[in-house]
Amino acid sequence: MGMPNFQLTAFNKTDVFIRSLSFYKPTSSRYKILMEANAFPSDHYAVESQIQLQGLDPEKCLLLLSPVEGEETLRADDILSTIEKEGDSIAVIMFSGVQYYTGQLFDMASITKAGHAKGCFVGFDLAHAVGNVELCLHDWDVDFASWCNYKYMNSGAGALAGAYIHEKHQYSVKPTLHGWWSNDKKTRFEMDKKIHISPGVNGFRLSNPPILLVRSLQAALEIFNQTDKKALRRKSVLLTGYLECLIKHYYSKVPDNPQKPYVTIITPSNIEERGCQLSLVFSSHISLVFMELQKRGATVSRVLAVGVSCCSRFRIAIDMLSSTKLLRS
Ligand SMILES: Cc1ncc(COP(=O)(O)O)c(C=O)c1O
Repeated sequence: MGMPNFQLTAFNKTDVFIRSLSFYKPTSSRYKILMEANAFPSDHYAVESQIQLQGLDPEKCLLLLSPVEGEETLRADDILSTIEKEGDSIAVIMFSGVQYYTGQLFDMASITKAGHAKGCFVGFDLAHAVGNVELCLHDWDVDFASWCNYKYMNSGAGALAGAYIHEKHQYSVKPTLHGWWSNDKKTRFEMDKKIHISPGVNGFRLSNPPILLVRSLQAALEIFNQTDKKALRRKSVLLTGYLECLIKHYYSKVPDNPQKPYVTIITPSNIEERGCQLSLVFSSHISLVFMELQKRGATVSRVLAVGVSCCSRFRIAIDMLSSTKLLRS
């Protein structure tokens, strides 16, 4: 994760961390939260409820950034220019590291730098970035982050989440909600009513972590420990590029043959702007694609939406080696 251990904790759920977030301290002039218009729904719910908890109106406080019309992903320049233009009224910038739907990898270092230059706190939902791309949260000076470990961390659906707060905030940013696990380890079991909040991110923990979820996360981390993030990324770039190449080779649109099914990749083709996820738009109906993949033994995660021209969309996040075999079958 690119940070000292004390800045990091295993934590309840991604959503719970974002909800209990203490970085949002709106004032009359700085009260907005900037996020992607197409962020994962639970981020929207959490941020909206944060705004409402402060007695404010999400309509006025939520600044949502959409791609340029006709495009799927956000332009880096648009993100930075919005921060430059609106930054004085923005309290918190919250983006994803890798966009769950398009697979776009954001330049977290630049977003953080631009946000800090305007006096905003900057944090990321890393649910699709952790275990997928290299992260240097501490060096990038990111203020906070949270992520679930379901996906590229392989800890299983509903696994324990992770949370990070930069060490510079360890005494200044306090949790709004307290639980017995926010207590310093030294006094946690003294069972008196005076809480001694652990500094930094550990103070944000609420309850005793469930043992089975801890074990599945531990097992996954032990496997990750057998390699390093640079080696993982090197391999991932090659496998993802190979899959992209096969998709383009077999399933590009052929203008002379409109009956031939085709696949469009909406994830950026630049490797600096993506992790190992390729998001695909199929010309065939999604239920057909889903059925054919299942027949071939693929476990797929899907997000359905009916797009214009009756295309269905399908986010494919399956193991790259098996997917290259599937493509050939
Ligand atoms: C991008 C993103 N954010 C948040 C969540 C929700 O995580 P949790 O269930 O740990 O609150 C998910 C879950 O899939 C996700 O993909």
